[in-house]
Amino acid sequence: MSEDKKIKITSDTKPVAGAVDNLEKEFKEHSVAEFFKKNKQMIGLYGKVRTLTMVIHEYVTNSLDACEETGILPNIDVKIDELGDEYYEVTVTDNGPGITIENVGKAFGKLLAGTKFHRLMQSRGQQGIGASGCTMLSQMTTGKASKIITGKEGKKAIALELVIDPRMNEPKISNVKEIEKDFRGTSVQAKFKGCLYRDSDQGALEYLKRTAIANPHAQISFRDPMGQKTVFKRTHNTLPQRPAEIKPHPKGTTVDDVLTYCKSTKGRTVASFLTNDFDRMGAKGIEEIKKRVHFDLNKDPKLLTWEEAEEIVKAFKAISFIAPSTDALRPIGEEQIRKSLQSIVQPEFLTVLTRKPTVYAGGYPFQVEIAIAYGGGSGRKVGDQTSMDIMRFANRVPLLFDNGNCALTKAIQTIDWKRYDIKDPSTAPVTVFVNFISVHIPYTGAGKQAIADEEEVLEEIRLALMQTGRKAGIYIAHKRRESENQQKRLMFYKYIPEVCKALSTITKANEENLKKKMEKMVLEKLKIDEQKEEEDRKKTEKTLANDDNSFITKPKPEKEENKKKLKK
Ligand SMILES: Nc1ncnc2c1ncn2[C@@H]1O[C@H](COP(=O)(O)OP(=O)(O)OP(=O)(O)O)[C@@H](O)[C@H]1O
Ligand SMILES: [Mg+2]
Repeated sequence: MSEDKKIKITSDTKPVAGAVDNLEKEFKEHSVAEFFKKNKQMIGLYGKVRTLTMVIHEYVTNSLDACEETGILPNIDVKIDELGDEYYEVTVTDNGPGITIENVGKAFGKLLAGTKFHRLMQSRGQQGIGASGCTMLSQMTTGKASKIITGKEGKKAIALELVIDPRMNEPKISNVKEIEKDFRGTSVQAKFKGCLYRDSDQGALEYLKRTAIANPHAQISFRDPMGQKTVFKRTHNTLPQRPAEIKPHPKGTTVDDVLTYCKSTKGRTVASFLTNDFDRMGAKGIEEIKKRVHFDLNKDPKLLTWEEAEEIVKAFKAISFIAPSTDALRPIGEEQIRKSLQSIVQPEFLTVLTRKPTVYAGGYPFQVEIAIAYGGGSGRKVGDQTSMDIMRFANRVPLLFDNGNCALTKAIQTIDWKRYDIKDPSTAPVTVFVNFISVHIPYTGAGKQAIADEEEVLEEIRLALMQTGRKAGIYIAHKRRESENQQKRLMFYKYIPEVCKALSTITKANEENLKKKMEKMVLEKLKIDEQKEEEDRKKTEKTLANDDNSFITKPKPEKEENKKKLKK
């Protein structure tokens, strides 16, 4: 080290008297609840409108997960009451399985507790902080407890109130009562201050509308703070098949994962641990691993060292395994997406695609569903303007926030929409629906609103967009030609009187006669144009009719309107 780079130890670097002792005294432990209490933005609870929508999101996703896991067609009732300035009460009631008295406290009053975090299974929740995060926000902003009523089949329902003790990250339950009313399901009621209800793109109504689109088997009713009631009726009476839990795939496993899994394995030897606890691990895989590691695979897995786990993961990388099982995924399905969008968005044209499952990061199965809707209620409407609306979903959950940072948005932005006759997405009456499903969604944060841009995910979404874009393009191009012809006609009619007036002045011919002749000529020309248009329409319909996933709901809606315009 050169002279001038040496650290100089001078009297200036001596600590201030007593400071070291004071610093040591400041050393404290904190619970995860205290952490999130201080950093509620990390779980998406920030912004006045966003906060209220996120609260609804957490409760509703839990209700849907619970109903589906137990084979119940979900009926969910959401109410928001305004109690004062930026002060609301939220009530969400479901007809799900209910929660036992033993677990209800932890479900709503302990962060990082739940039934989903430890499983590789397609579900909406995956962290164990949604419901308890809301309980904490409620007590932080109002000082009030959350009220829960929960009833299980054949048992008396119970009502209770709870808050979280942040220092211990434990629930504090009070006022437990048995209630006589026959009730099966869970109802949560909590108060929140510092938030706002808005009927906007990011408000609870839009969130529930999108939830209904992606969950056609759910019946969702909503009462807003003004007392306005909206019911999203179930359009499909069968529950999606329960997703299967899958085992971790060796290719997506880290050394730390191996050491975590081996602590809870039922396998008595490392060989049986690997065979039982990993996807696609058979006798051949074990033989290959045996050749590559320097310890006995008959060893007790609970005694595995870091170095031995490292050898196992190195072997995982070197050996080829069959790709992970993808049959555990449960897409919404083309038929259901079509029904939902037709009932809620009511587009003029719709094309839908559910791609085959594939894998990201070596070990996580995922699948992409895309729909492109055009015309009718498609697109995002602000005043007179309609622009492309992007509806993002992860495991059927609408993602309303953080769109700029999300792989789904990024994939859509990389598409050259001009190829599909969408010249300018900011003026296109188009809705792009994307549902990304996986046993593990790679969210960019605990707020679960944006998906990380894994290479395979981006590519798969792009392919699906191009496939559906081509079909939408055929219809949109046909509509463009139709509208251009219409413009031409209007121009002819507009200028006939002026042209005839000028001609009559020059030629001294009778202006009225000229007008009649000219109108006859234009009408004949228009007839030819209409014939061509009809042929074009039939051709477009025929091309799209050969495709099972494209639907034209209203083939000629504008034409009638324009005809009326012409007559005027
Ligand atoms: N309405 C409900 N019916 C039945 N069980 C519920 C209900 N709401 C919550 N639970 C249980 O409480 C647990 C905790 O819910 P919470 O929302 O905190 O976490 P999560 O849903 O597991 O994951 P995430 O944090 O990603 O939402 C759930 O895993 C579930 O077992
Ligand atoms: Mg949850």
